[in-house]
Amino acid sequence: MSPKRVLSGVQPTGVLHLGNWLGAIRNWVDLQESHQNFVCVVDLHAITVPHDPLILAKDTLSTAALYLACGIDPQRSTVFVQSQIPAHSELCWLLNCLTPLNWMERMIQFKEKAVKQGDNVSVGLLDYPLLMAADILLYDADLVPVGEDQRQHLELARDIAQQRVNARFGSEENPVLKVPEGLISEQGAKVMSLLDGRRKMSKSDPNENSRIGLLDKPDVITKKIKRAKTDSEIGLEFDNPDRPEANNLLNLYSLLSGVDKTAAAKECAEMGWGKFKPLLSDAAISALTPIQKNYSELISDPLELKSILNNGKEKAEEVAQATLKRVREAMGFLITEC
Ligand code: TRP
Repeated sequence: MSPKRVLSGVQPTGVLHLGNWLGAIRNWVDLQESHQNFVCVVDLHAITVPHDPLILAKDTLSTAALYLACGIDPQRSTVFVQSQIPAHSELCWLLNCLTPLNWMERMIQFKEKAVKQGDNVSVGLLDYPLLMAADILLYDADLVPVGEDQRQHLELARDIAQQRVNARFGSEENPVLKVPEGLISEQGAKVMSLLDGRRKMSKSDPNENSRIGLLDKPDVITKKIKRAKTDSEIGLEFDNPDRPEANNLLNLYSLLSGVDKTAAAKECAEMGWGKFKPLLSDAAISALTPIQKNYSELISDPLELKSILNNGKEKAEEVAQATLKRVREAMGFLITEC
């Protein structure tokens, strides 16, 4: 039996932060040992809200470089850029025509983002989850590692594959599309904002101090941790509902230092914030230094990076084209090649 296939993606908007790394990329790195890993930079998703054409390409390349810097190995994982494979847009169109509009209108993330865009909501923003479904379904993915906030989108992809494609155009023995399973990251890996322990660390938070970027320099990391929200209690602890900041920062310490949760809780049980924060800063700096070193080497050789992405494109395209052909045939399109 061939190893199960995993597909994951991140948008090339803004610099990736600790939440992206600890909650997502680090898992992909582990998964590549035992799975067939497909990792894509979803640049077509990045234009569903107004974007700056002067930085799209640069952000796409640097996001790919960060994946690699974090340990995604192009020998073992297929790393590619979504927009370079037209099959994503094409399958998205086919799915568009098979999906009821009201399935899309009830997506929570769409409703939230649409409020922020006011009068300027693009059709693409509504369509975002179908493009994501196309990303997943094109590669016959068995597993899709996503955060809790993407659970609804993954369910949508499953429902479409099952009810709208397989049920209508396939048969029990001969399904057109593989129905993927989600690998929803466990609570432990969820990193919250440095300024509010109840909110997720997010690229879209306007306040830079709410997150630590993977490329933040040591003095910036130290400064951000110094400013991180605390409470008036002494001693760090997990799972006290009244102390979300203590939970988050202790969790971060455990994830970054590799000290397991029980040991971290014990180590910091009586520690005041003044002593804890430098400890956390050191752990963050030590964890990020090797990634930053890898990154600066990779980004200084854009030709090599592009060649890695071209290789990824070739491998991805082969799989994507085969799936697209299956769907075209099942849906009854004229096929003229012999
Ligand atoms: N929507 C995802 C997010 O914001 C990104 C994404 C796009 C994705 N296509 C995907 C994730 C396919 C997993 C699989 O996190």
